[in-house]
Amino acid sequence: MTSSTIEAPRSPRPVARKRRVNWEKWGWLYMRGSGVLLIVLIAAHLFTNLIAGQGGVKAIDFAFVGGKWSNPFWKVWDTLLLWLALIHGSNGMRTIVNDYVSNPKVRKTMLIALLASSVVLLLLGTLVIYTFDPCPAGSLPSDLPSFCPAQ
Ligand code: HEM
Repeated sequence: MTSSTIEAPRSPRPVARKRRVNWEKWGWLYMRGSGVLLIVLIAAHLFTNLIAGQGGVKAIDFAFVGGKWSNPFWKVWDTLLLWLALIHGSNGMRTIVNDYVSNPKVRKTMLIALLASSVVLLLLGTLVIYTFDPCPAGSLPSDLPSFCPAQ
């Protein structure tokens, strides 16, 4: 009878070259770190948008967003929320694709599509936050935040 040795469950996966960056480990750590930060970011986001103003979801309109993004604090907050959640979500999707898509060509196509869509959404989202004009010319005053000059 032959015997074989089973590695301890937590042994690191053998890598071809030594001292290579272990991206899977950093991805694993990123999911935990961003998860903790997202709890704080999402809780404050929901509280200020839905509870603090007392108007609930019905109070969220153009003027509300314009008012919020006139404050650099909320711009940075929303940028962090966008980047951390989008990278968290797409890295999580990458894990799911790697786990369930067995055809290498389909898997590669899905991973490239995931990367491309994430990059586009990150760039567009960041562009929107930092180029947003709360007082666009020609708008109805009733649609705009109160600090906009009368047109
Ligand atoms: C309170 C906020 C959040 C916390 C604490 C959190 C935490 C986590 C953790 C710890 C994992 C890793 C699970 C594992 O490896 O088994 C994970 C996976 C994942 N998360 Fe989040 N997350 C949060 C928000 C989000 C958001 C906003 C999205 C979408 C944009 C998202 C999408 C995913 C996906 C797709 C996975 C992969 C699931 C899997 O591996 O089966 N999460 N999350």
